[in-house]
Amino acid sequence: MTKIIFGILICTILIFAAVLPVTGELPKIKPKNAIENINLIMDEYPLPPPISVDMVLEESICRRMSVRSFTGEAVTDEELSTILWAAYGYTENGNRSIFNPDGTYSTIIYVIRSDATYKYVPENHSLSLFKSGNYLHLGQYTSPIKFGLVWDMNAESDELRGMADIGMIGQDIYFDANALDLGTVTTGLYVEDLYELGIPSNEKPEIIMPLGHPSSPYDFTYDPLPVSNLPAVIDNTISLEDAINNRQIIDLWDDIPLSLLEQSQLIWSSYGYSYLIDNVNSKRHRTLPSAIGYYPFKIFAANHSGVYQYFYNTHSITEILQGDQREEIKNCVEYNNIIIDTASFIIIPCLDTNIGSSQYQRFWYYENGAIIHNVLLETAALNLSANVIYDISNEAGLRSALGISSQTNLVPLSVVPVGNPFTSPNFPPEKPDIDGTTNGKAGTSYTYTFNSVDPDGDDVYYYIKWGDGQTEVWDGPHGTGVDVDIDHTYANQGAFTIEAKAKDSNGAESGWSTLQVTMPLNKVLINPLFLRLLERFPYAFPILRYIFRL
Ligand SMILES: Cc1cc2nc3c(=O)[nH]c(=O)nc-3n(C[C@H](O)[C@H](O)[C@H](O)COP(=O)(O)O)c2cc1C
Repeated sequence: MTKIIFGILICTILIFAAVLPVTGELPKIKPKNAIENINLIMDEYPLPPPISVDMVLEESICRRMSVRSFTGEAVTDEELSTILWAAYGYTENGNRSIFNPDGTYSTIIYVIRSDATYKYVPENHSLSLFKSGNYLHLGQYTSPIKFGLVWDMNAESDELRGMADIGMIGQDIYFDANALDLGTVTTGLYVEDLYELGIPSNEKPEIIMPLGHPSSPYDFTYDPLPVSNLPAVIDNTISLEDAINNRQIIDLWDDIPLSLLEQSQLIWSSYGYSYLIDNVNSKRHRTLPSAIGYYPFKIFAANHSGVYQYFYNTHSITEILQGDQREEIKNCVEYNNIIIDTASFIIIPCLDTNIGSSQYQRFWYYENGAIIHNVLLETAALNLSANVIYDISNEAGLRSALGISSQTNLVPLSVVPVGNPFTSPNFPPEKPDIDGTTNGKAGTSYTYTFNSVDPDGDDVYYYIKWGDGQTEVWDGPHGTGVDVDIDHTYANQGAFTIEAKAKDSNGAESGWSTLQVTMPLNKVLINPLFLRLLERFPYAFPILRYIFRL
């Protein structure tokens, strides 16, 4: 018997030992060397909130320069979080920090650290562990962090658009890194190294950007270019963060000319020179990087009076063609709903293929994105709105509209209309029609119908004074031209004036309409004898009302 009990005990222990590893709750294993100061949730690591960087946008743009040598000092998680948000995060309005007209957003950002490589997850601003181990040897230069920017061909089939996104991301990495006293450089060589990470076959490595503290601290001297036929570049008050959050994409503008200063700021941001001298390298940098320092774009701009070419060396413009060419420009692109010819200022970056060879085409596509992004940010800093068009249906026609027909080496890569948003004049609704019983009985409920048509089709609200001290205060919203029934009972006899007005959803009000109504009491009640009787016997009133159906 003891043997049997002992046998059962041993069997039970063995069964438990076999089953426990499968069914029991095991502690989650932290991936080797994973980020220490970020809480572990499976293999996703929430990033801390981004730091608020208040450097104004123009200063960020002017301090942009490539840094290739870094100290060993670590980049904090807060700094990383700030840069990743600006690069590719979601804004307060649910937009992305960069703008892709088709919403394809085909970039994947690999964050390579000494502990592991992560993917940035913009949706919840976190890092997702991709591969453990140190891959910082990939690409050029030695730095504590590297961003591997990869084009996901499944999300976007057109490399021009994929690279434009990456060019935009690159700008924000430069700007925020610099504002945080960190440094970076766009590198397009040795990016195939990223395949060593085991990235999927639909992903193409495009750019690697190292990030770290510059070995030589930034050192700038303010030295603006001499004033030309354009005003000198000035600082507005909006930071990069605010410009990202406030960016407005629209389809229709008010077609009122922009000031020369606004036009100057916009065209400068696209391709101009910094107002700062970089004392470390004894040079003035451009508003964006360019592969091999080629800068192969020519920037054209059209407004209501003509087409101009921008000359960054002198921060000046030269008229190429007189007269409004905006409609011609519109006719050469797939503009969909975008009414380009109402935009006050249209910027068209053209790749000069004599300078930018096709061998580096994807790099020029990157640069096109960087140009657009700068214009979009400056647009926001000027409280203006813009849009972006990549589909150029008639390249030769567009060249002709710009007055550069013979320069077939110039290839327009995008069209960026900018201006003040169209604000439609709002017309007030018509005076309401009032319909209902004009001769009834006090104490009886009647239905009155109100109807007002709003010329803009806006919803309407009704304000009704019944004439007996009762009011309906802005009853609504109701559809324009829809009958609105409201019941009312006049408790006392008499003649009343119903007054009603309407307002639309923008607050524009109509005039007053009126309807005269009389609500006499039954003649029997008006008889003085009856009135005296009622004074004596007030409780008789309900009985009389019932009998005479008052
Ligand atoms: C698409 C692209 C690719 C680049 N590739 C490299 C590169 O492989 N290595 C490098 O050191 N710099 C690279 N650069 C940086 C340029 O050399 C640099 O922007 C240019 O010399 C101007 O200098 P700045 O950025 O300091 O003003 C690249 C820039 C771009 C836009």
